[in-house]
Amino acid sequence: MRDAGFMARVNDLQYVALAVPDLAAERAFFGTTWGLVEVAEQDGKVYLAAEGSPHPFVIRLREDAERKTELIGFSADGRDVVDAIFAKATAAGAKVIAEPGPAEGPAGGYACRFFDPEGRALEVVCDGTQRAHRTLEKGEAIPLGISHVVFHSPDIKRLQGFYEEVLGFRLSDWIGDFMVFLRCNTAHHRLAILPGPPTLNHIAFDVSSIDEMMRGLARMHENNVTLTWGPGRHTAGNNTFSYFLSPNGNAVEYTSDLEHVDDEDWVPQTFAPTPAITDQWGTGRIIPGNVPHAELSPDKGLWQVPA
Ligand SMILES: [Fe+2]
Repeated sequence: MRDAGFMARVNDLQYVALAVPDLAAERAFFGTTWGLVEVAEQDGKVYLAAEGSPHPFVIRLREDAERKTELIGFSADGRDVVDAIFAKATAAGAKVIAEPGPAEGPAGGYACRFFDPEGRALEVVCDGTQRAHRTLEKGEAIPLGISHVVFHSPDIKRLQGFYEEVLGFRLSDWIGDFMVFLRCNTAHHRLAILPGPPTLNHIAFDVSSIDEMMRGLARMHENNVTLTWGPGRHTAGNNTFSYFLSPNGNAVEYTSDLEHVDDEDWVPQTFAPTPAITDQWGTGRIIPGNVPHAELSPDKGLWQVPA
């Protein structure tokens, strides 16, 4: 039993499931170039984990005619938490995909699924088989784990309210009134929201330090992966960044040094929106014409029950 006053919240971002037209290319990219490790293939879905993370997988890929975000998975630390979050989701009017029960996929566990107010399919999962992960070597420029996702939304405050009230996210910071950073553990953000049509802006992966971020950048360059923004260091979260495009046009980021936040004494601040606010060093602006994300249109996966 939990203490009275127990507040059900997710405790991490666990995975993003993507559908892509060219599965072979995306699989080779995430598995070889980007540095994830393929751990399973089941029912046409390829599961990739991060060497430094206990999560059973951090990316799931499937072939489909169109590129779309299929599912975003958040972990929870017990079945009562999954049940409580599901109850909050239904109370908030969320459209249900799957009631709490056995989780789909090779890692097993217990999960529920529902749509957020803009139609993103979400899963909250616990008790999946955790990986025997390892400590990365110094200089090993591969993901420690998944770091965060950034969404675009036509109604940032409404979406923020949903993720706070239903999934238990907490406000970390704002940039002006156009970008909000939310946390579900001590990492400054596992989710951030920008204006725009409802779609995914990017998926970020933590690497060990700025050295590994730079080494990863060099490896992408050697593999002709398009650098879309960076290298640089953000202001909110204080993390370093380099952004790239996957073969199917998914925006991915290597990041390091993301700030950690103590729930007890963190005071959210609002950074004034200036041209340099997302790039403290200014180095990310050296290459002209870069855009940090793919074209903006509503995600093709909205309101679709994941395959
Ligand atoms: Fe990011």
